[in-house]
Amino acid sequence: MVTIQSAIDVLTQNDRGGFTIPTAGLYPYQWNWDSAFVALGLATYDMDRAWSEVTSLITGQWPDGMIPSIIFRSDDPDYFPGPSRWGKTPGPIPSTGVSQPPVLATIVRAITKGDAVRRAAVFDALFAWHRWFHDARSVDGIVCTVHPWETGRDNCPEWNIGLDLMEVPPDLAPYRRMDNKHVDPSFRPTQDQYDKYLTIMAFGASVGWDQRRLTDEGPFLMADPNIHFVLLRADQDLLAMAQGLGKPQAVLDQIEGWIANGHAASEYLWNNEVGAFTAREVRTGRFSNGFSNCSALCFYANSGTVEQRSRTLAHLERIDKTVDYMLPSWDPDATDFEAQRYWCGPLWPQMNYMTALGLDEQGAPKMASKIRGDLCRTIEKSGFWECFNPLTGEGCVGEKFSWTAAVWLSWQHEIRMKGAA
Ligand code: GLC
Repeated sequence: MVTIQSAIDVLTQNDRGGFTIPTAGLYPYQWNWDSAFVALGLATYDMDRAWSEVTSLITGQWPDGMIPSIIFRSDDPDYFPGPSRWGKTPGPIPSTGVSQPPVLATIVRAITKGDAVRRAAVFDALFAWHRWFHDARSVDGIVCTVHPWETGRDNCPEWNIGLDLMEVPPDLAPYRRMDNKHVDPSFRPTQDQYDKYLTIMAFGASVGWDQRRLTDEGPFLMADPNIHFVLLRADQDLLAMAQGLGKPQAVLDQIEGWIANGHAASEYLWNNEVGAFTAREVRTGRFSNGFSNCSALCFYANSGTVEQRSRTLAHLERIDKTVDYMLPSWDPDATDFEAQRYWCGPLWPQMNYMTALGLDEQGAPKMASKIRGDLCRTIEKSGFWECFNPLTGEGCVGEKFSWTAAVWLSWQHEIRMKGAA
């Protein structure tokens, strides 16, 4: 049975001393947005430990401001691609050379209500990271991504239009995947996708992880609604913290500029044919053609027109009639939907969390509680898995997963707080 204690046990088992791994075996290091969600869960019962989750992540920040997707504090032979394959990176701790959706400022704001000291302690790091996205990853005002892993949605079919433009060089250094040793290969990305992921890495290493060159000259360049909306939301949370901390006008102006640009950039991601926000290949301008579980994050970022939002909601209502558990990561009516393969179908706890929060805030509470309730039902049925089959509610990929336990704990906490009010 799933209880508060069993959720806490998951986080405790995955604690590696001041930071938390997503799950033992498959993911033995500190992951960026995983740690942010973990902090949200830890904050419900141990604020000091939640805070070390935040600060340990920030210790991996590069001099250019980037906070990498994975921080390697050791070299685990059971994980690939680990620090030796990423090569020498400029940060203080060995790491990957790409980032992940910057949800951290939003979560810091949520867990530090009334705590100006903690907010002040991390403000500059968060500001520098956001500036990095707006500078090093931006092309003509659009924040882009150079690697599917950076989006946090590794093998979502959205990336195919970018990956199809790539060639795998014949001299790509040979490698042995480890992910398929830990879990059923039918859950995981295909071999061709993996070759291309490593091709992008090899390019990054060849330019010494110069992030501007990686963006401008790298083999993959797409705009992702997940990074876009998460950053736009986080910029608004950063602005609120800056105002509360009495930061100089120049800082406020800078963040306000990012937010204004961000709202304008939402238009770039609006795919009128599909009637939803979808990813876009930047060099050709081509759109991906499917509704994903980040399409409805326009609510979370408080962005998009009334018409765009109502068409988005119509998709959610259609999809809700097709699957038993909302919200699948890929449109269940698409031909390439696969209920169990990673980002091609399964529902993801952290995506349900952000989507439901946005819908609630922007006046769609019925769909919000459906999305929240369905995740709770799958967890109660199957346990704290990494992601879930949206047709059956069965758990997929990694078990005893940190962000699943953390998101569930944060909702239980909200329910208790409401009851106490
Ligand atoms: C997978 C997910 C990514 C996550 C990581 C660790 O790579 O796609 O979003 O951060 O696992 O949980």
